[in-house]
Amino acid sequence: MAASIFAAVPHSPPVAVFKLTADFREDSDSRKVNLGVGAYRTDEGQPWVLPVVKKVEQIIANDNSLNHEYLPILGLPEFRANASRIALGDDSPAIKEKRVGSVQCLGGTGALRIGADFLRRWYNGNNNTATPVYVSTPTWENHNSVFMEAGFKDIRTYHYWDAAKRGLDLQGLLNDMEQAPEFSIFILHACAHNPTGTDPTPEQWKQIAAVMKRRSLFPFFDSAYQGFASGSLDKDAWAVRYFVSEGFELFCAQSFSKNFGLYNERVGNLTVVGKDADNVQRVLSQMEKIVRTTWSNPPSQGARIVATTLASPQLFDEWKGNVKTMADRVLLMRSELRSRLEALGTPGTWNHITEQIGMFSFTGLNPKQVEYMVKEKHIYLMASGRINMCGLTTKNLDYVAKSIHEAVTKIQ
Ligand SMILES: Cc1ncc(COP(=O)(O)O)c(C=O)c1O
Repeated sequence: MAASIFAAVPHSPPVAVFKLTADFREDSDSRKVNLGVGAYRTDEGQPWVLPVVKKVEQIIANDNSLNHEYLPILGLPEFRANASRIALGDDSPAIKEKRVGSVQCLGGTGALRIGADFLRRWYNGNNNTATPVYVSTPTWENHNSVFMEAGFKDIRTYHYWDAAKRGLDLQGLLNDMEQAPEFSIFILHACAHNPTGTDPTPEQWKQIAAVMKRRSLFPFFDSAYQGFASGSLDKDAWAVRYFVSEGFELFCAQSFSKNFGLYNERVGNLTVVGKDADNVQRVLSQMEKIVRTTWSNPPSQGARIVATTLASPQLFDEWKGNVKTMADRVLLMRSELRSRLEALGTPGTWNHITEQIGMFSFTGLNPKQVEYMVKEKHIYLMASGRINMCGLTTKNLDYVAKSIHEAVTKIQ
C-alpha cells in the first residue's frame, strides 16, 4: 500500500483549556477540582441551564409557526436588532440615526472572525494584511489566531497587566497606543478582561478613547461577558457606549455563550457602528458575502432563544435576574476564597481576588506552583495562574484555599 497522502501532516498540540478538562475527567482522585474551564458552574459544580432559557425553549417548541427553513445569511432580524440594542443601550443615538448594523454569528468567536475577515479585506483600503492588530498582554489566546487566520500578518501586543502591582498598566497601554501606527486595529475587552479580571475604570477608558481618537486607531470590542462583571448589563456596556458617544466607528463582537449559558448553541452577534446608514449598508453587504462562504446561514435555535427573551420585557427581567444569580455567586466565591487565604496567613496579598471582576481571577501563582496544584492536589488551572471562580463551591473552598496556601509556602 502506498503511504497516506496525509503522512506528512504534523500533529498539532491540543488546545490548552480543553486538554485541561480532558485531564480533569480522567483523574480518579475524589478531591479533584476543575478551575480551568471557561464556563459557569453551580454550587454543586454542575452546568446551569438558565430557568428563563428553559421557559423560552418550551415556548419555541410549542410554536407551530416556526420551521427549519434557512435563516437570512445575516441572521434572524429580531435577534440582530435586540442584541445590538443591549450592547449600545435603549436610547443609543447611533441606533436612532440608523447607523448600526449587525450580523448574527457563530458565537463570539464567529463575530470576531467575520469582523476580522471584513477588516482584512476592506478596512482603510482594500488590502490590510500589513495593518497592525494589537491584542492585550495577556489576552484570550484565540485573539491572535483568529486575526492571523483572517490574513493579518502583523499581530502586536499592548501592555495591559502589571504583574507587580496586580493591576492595569495604564501608562504602558497608553504609550503603546501613542506609538502605534495610525489606523492600527485594537482589540479591547469590553468588560471582565479574560484572563486578568481587571478592567479600566470609566476615567481610564476616557483617557484610552482620547488617545485612540487622536491617533486614528480602530476599536474592535470583544464583549463575551456582559452582565458577568458587575451583574448589570448597562454598567458592563459602559465602555462600548462611551466610545459610540465619542463618535467612533467601531465593531463589537458579542457572545451569548456565558450570559445565556448557551455555549454549544453558538450564539453571537457582530455589531457595526458607522458614520451613517449608507456606510453601514455597504459594510453589511460585504459581510454578507463573507458569511456566505464561511457558514452560509447561521443556526436558529440559540438566536430564537435570545431574541424571544430580549424582546419581552417580562422575560428580559427574568434573564437579568438569572445573570445576577451567576454574577453574585462569583462575587461570593471571591470573598470566601480571599477570607480563607487571609485567615490561613498565606504569604502575599489577596485583595486582588475580590478586586478582579468577571469569571476569572489571575491568582499570581507561578507555573511551578500551578504544576504543584495540578499534580499534587488534583486542582486543575491554567499555567498562567488563571482560575475560573465558578469552579469554586462551598464544598471545595477549604480544600482549594489550603492547597493554594501549601503551593505558595512550599514552592517558590
Ligand atoms: C474574551 C473572549 N472572547 C470571546 C470568546 C468566545 O466565546 P464564544 O464561545 O461565544 O465563541 C471567549 C470565550 O471564552 C472569551 O473569553
